[in-house]
Amino acid sequence: MSDSARQARLKARCAVFYALRVYLPLSHLARAVRARSRSLRGKPSRHQQDTQLPDAPWHRLFPSQPAFIVESAKANGNVRVSELAVLAKAATTIAPGREIVEIGTFDGRTTLNLAVNSDPATPVFTLDLPPDAPTKFALDHGERKFVDKPAPGERYRRCGAPWKDSAGKIVQLLGDSGSFDWSAHFGKAGLVFVDGSHAYDYARHDTEMAFKLVSPDGVVIWHDYGVWQGVTRALEELERERHLGLRQVRGTSLVFWRANGQHLAKSQT
Ligand SMILES: C[S@@+](CC[C@H](N)C(=O)[O-])C[C@H]1O[C@@H](n2cnc3c(N)ncnc32)[C@H](O)[C@@H]1O
Repeated sequence: MSDSARQARLKARCAVFYALRVYLPLSHLARAVRARSRSLRGKPSRHQQDTQLPDAPWHRLFPSQPAFIVESAKANGNVRVSELAVLAKAATTIAPGREIVEIGTFDGRTTLNLAVNSDPATPVFTLDLPPDAPTKFALDHGERKFVDKPAPGERYRRCGAPWKDSAGKIVQLLGDSGSFDWSAHFGKAGLVFVDGSHAYDYARHDTEMAFKLVSPDGVVIWHDYGVWQGVTRALEELERERHLGLRQVRGTSLVFWRANGQHLAKSQT
């Protein structure tokens, strides 16, 4: 391995340490203090909802395998660096031979990290909506700006050594998650990451699709719980209806569910 590759890997390991041991606890505390201060002043946040799902710390959900974070700089629309580290840890736990599915590529920062942290034989399928494509449901107000871009996946397409081989495992899919045909992937995913449209109808639909995609030993992770109302409502309703044991990953807007042999898909078509 060249010196520059070794340095890039060390930097990517340090980024995980910072994200999980420094950024996550401090940002969690800062949000709690801000929320308390707003509620004392009678000014609830427009961007943060009260949440009801129980939470659990990331290290109780994922065994602590070494992970890497690349492309750590956050753009508007990306997950937080702490969430990226949790997703990277999750990717390290996927059994070889399984697939990873992401709904909502955006610039491909999370996609690349899922690819880097999974087995070399684990393909990563990521779906994004072309700007001119019709949609089955209405998008949420304010999310058009994430759809309107020249092409999804800019970050994994431009990445260099030593991550290029991992980026080569990524398969970019284009279409509307409301009507996309995933049938060739049913039951194969070790990890499904749901982060497409945040509208309620999409959150419900994409969740049902995630249950079809996930393998009996796989996990589903959602983003933006407590941040976008459609996602928060969809996940809390689901938990009330089906008692799945959804858990918010403490200090993040991620929600986690492990299949543990269950088949939740309402139908296999
Ligand atoms: C918040 S961004 C995803 C961020 C990305 N997962 C990350 O971690 O950086 C949401 C993405 O979902 C895509 N999207 C929105 N509605 C969609 C739909 N109906 N089908 C597929 N993708 C959709 C948008 O184009 C956008 O790129």
